[in-house]
Amino acid sequence: MPDTSEVPSDIEVIKQRKKDGIEIPLNKDVQARATSTYLEYVKLVHNALPEIDYDDIDLSTTFLGHRFSAPLIIDSMTGGTDEATVINGRLGELAQKYGLGMGLGSQRAGLKSEELAATYSIARKNAPGAFLIANIGGAQLAKGLTIDEARKIVKMIGANALVVHLNPLQELVQPEGEPRYRGVLDKISELVKSMDVPVIVKEVGAGISREAAIRLEMAGVSAINVAGAGGTSWAGVEKLRADMVKDRAKARLGEVFWDWGIPTAASLVQVRRAVKLPLIASGGLRNGLEVAKCVALGASMAAMAYPFLKAAAKSKESLFEFADTVLAELKSTMFLVGAQNVRSLASSRYILTGPLAEEVGRG
Ligand SMILES: Cc1cc2nc3c(=O)[nH]c(=O)nc-3n(C[C@H](O)[C@H](O)[C@H](O)COP(=O)(O)O)c2cc1C
Repeated sequence: MPDTSEVPSDIEVIKQRKKDGIEIPLNKDVQARATSTYLEYVKLVHNALPEIDYDDIDLSTTFLGHRFSAPLIIDSMTGGTDEATVINGRLGELAQKYGLGMGLGSQRAGLKSEELAATYSIARKNAPGAFLIANIGGAQLAKGLTIDEARKIVKMIGANALVVHLNPLQELVQPEGEPRYRGVLDKISELVKSMDVPVIVKEVGAGISREAAIRLEMAGVSAINVAGAGGTSWAGVEKLRADMVKDRAKARLGEVFWDWGIPTAASLVQVRRAVKLPLIASGGLRNGLEVAKCVALGASMAAMAYPFLKAAAKSKESLFEFADTVLAELKSTMFLVGAQNVRSLASSRYILTGPLAEEVGRG
């Protein structure tokens, strides 16, 4: 889970919190309830004359100067426990074998000990050639995480990029959360200037508005991951954690704000219109058709978190099978719109309907 609370001295306490962050999404239903991604309101136009052969379709693409076999990233998730080591190990194997990108979970805990660092670096061990993304929290930056620490976090996994996650909603609901974001944009600007890898900024399931995107572009970030509403709810995860520690006020807050945020498709369309930066779309993507829709809406890459976690927790075979399924669905969509490559998919015609069209116009 995005970790923005004070790292306790006791490593076992850190491990327990990280364990909750995997086990709650895995074993309880913490997906969006009263909202969706709005991707169901995006229609790609069927092409009865595709004039291409399915087997000739090329899924490969380039993002931040790196070649990927498909426009797909395993979104930032975990680290810090034994279970996370197994999951990161499997996700790393997948990223390597399939040429996908992979984000690690919030890594500040990894600065605490070699043992904790190894729960993240297993990904690099298993994916020597993959695009790996290191992870820190915006609230930690605001609070004083140093450039030197950020560099150590990047080095820990030999990262190709560094993500700063913004999670104001989670900080509010988390029993030990610290909803303090003053000064975060200045810290992001400073980070951008000091790091020698690209800095990406992401949400964790509440989306990025056009105004926030413009400010991030001005701060010099290299890409934005909109991580919108409609998938895993971090208000939901923290609500269940609040129940566990009998924090009734936080539990109620989590209940009230469970579905708060900008649906993924609405965030993506508005951010695409507002900035020139390359974009990653995530938040509630569950199949290859949705990946294709996001590319058509202007995302360079799409990312999924929960579905990869679920498959990786089961077995390596389930994980590889899930990736095969998503890629086949993406390729099928490309066949049906007559797009032989990702560039052509990106210029496919689409129609916006329903509440999405009401929110952003018909496109
Ligand atoms: C188990 C789990 C742990 C997560 N931990 C992090 C994290 O440490 N840092 C982060 O930036 N996002 C984290 N996220 C958020 C995801 O990267 C993603 O933005 C969000 O879950 C929405 O995607 P989804 O609906 O596909 O799960 C986590 C998500 C899950 C499911």
